Amino acid sequence: MSKKENKKFIITVNPKSPSKDIIAFTKLVTQRKKRIENASSKPITSDPINDLARRLHPERLNLIISEIRDETKSTKTFKLIADSESGTKDLAYFRAGQYLSLKVDVNGVIITRPYSISSSPKEALKGYYELTIKKEELGFLTHYIWDNWKVGTKIGSSGPEGFFYYEPLRDSKQIVGIAGGSGITPFRSIAKSFIDDKIDSKLTILYGSSDQEDIIYFDEFKKMEKQHPEKIKVIHILSCEEVSIEGCEHGFITADIIKKYSDESNSSFFICGPQIMYDFVEKELNKLKLRKKQIRREAFGEIKNVTNFPDFPQELAEKVFEVEVSIGNIVKKIPAFARESVLVALERANLAPPSKCRSGECGFCRSHLISGNIYVNPISDWRRAADKKYNFFHPCASYPISNLKISVPRSIS
Ligand code: FES
Repeated sequence: MSKKENKKFIITVNPKSPSKDIIAFTKLVTQRKKRIENASSKPITSDPINDLARRLHPERLNLIISEIRDETKSTKTFKLIADSESGTKDLAYFRAGQYLSLKVDVNGVIITRPYSISSSPKEALKGYYELTIKKEELGFLTHYIWDNWKVGTKIGSSGPEGFFYYEPLRDSKQIVGIAGGSGITPFRSIAKSFIDDKIDSKLTILYGSSDQEDIIYFDEFKKMEKQHPEKIKVIHILSCEEVSIEGCEHGFITADIIKKYSDESNSSFFICGPQIMYDFVEKELNKLKLRKKQIRREAFGEIKNVTNFPDFPQELAEKVFEVEVSIGNIVKKIPAFARESVLVALERANLAPPSKCRSGECGFCRSHLISGNIYVNPISDWRRAADKKYNFFHPCASYPISNLKISVPRSIS
């Protein structure tokens, strides 16, 4: 530091001498007492800072279905508005790409599931969110939703959560979205926000579907591309035998296709889709030798089959273990299958454990492993080093491989 800069620094900070500091310190208690004596005796009733924080990050949202639209044979969009009768006056703002964790009571068993918000943040300010949900062949919850959700159904949800959003300070101006099936839903929100907020970036979506009939938002994206060619481009990649869509690709989202439609070294890649697509696309992206920070992946919920991981102890796959759980003031012994997550075992026992992402990412289900052994699937292992050291774990990403004793926090809402 030069002499001139040094002088500037001393003038700016203006430190007091040690003796002045000590004198000031001796007056501290008397001055505080005086302030307390002179203060108003009226209770403080408003807390604007915390009120704003609660509105932006609510623990819970009470929502109500106001409209249901068919998107494809197996996909519906649910429009949700605030349920003021149940205490939610406004919807929380969010970042395009985030999700809601729904809490659904299925015949007395509480199940949580994360669903990406498919509408835009601007639409939340107008008073609604949209969720686009695909009915899964073997999906227990989505069958329940199809049979039971109607206009007027009330739904409990977390506030918007997740890290799958465009961040101009971190991401490139060229965003490549790689989507499979219903993994297109956060990209609808991101595309709309690029247009609504006039964001100076381009979103190119490589959208893989198994059949033309399964493509979600086909016409809507065509319109966006036509009206905003400088911002939105969608390429359909179809794996079925016969395709009749002009300009689409046939097959899967390979490294060659990614290279064909992107400037890969100057792009940020956002991936969202089923686990099988991640497994395939990640190998293809590896061929392009991208930097780690160029790739972002959406948490996709629990993995479907933990026994596919080569390091899972296959000899234990069919075992059932006993888990002693303490949750709130309840202590209970419950059975847990080795091939199902500890979270599922807790839900099956109707203990209503906390959860949001179900992918090991948010930390909301963080619990203490008092004794026993768990298998943590490597792609969902987001535990901090200190948590690993002191035996904290995420039940949504962990599988029992011995009898366990665990302590689980109570769900907040
Ligand atoms: S629910 Fe998010 S880490 Fe378990």
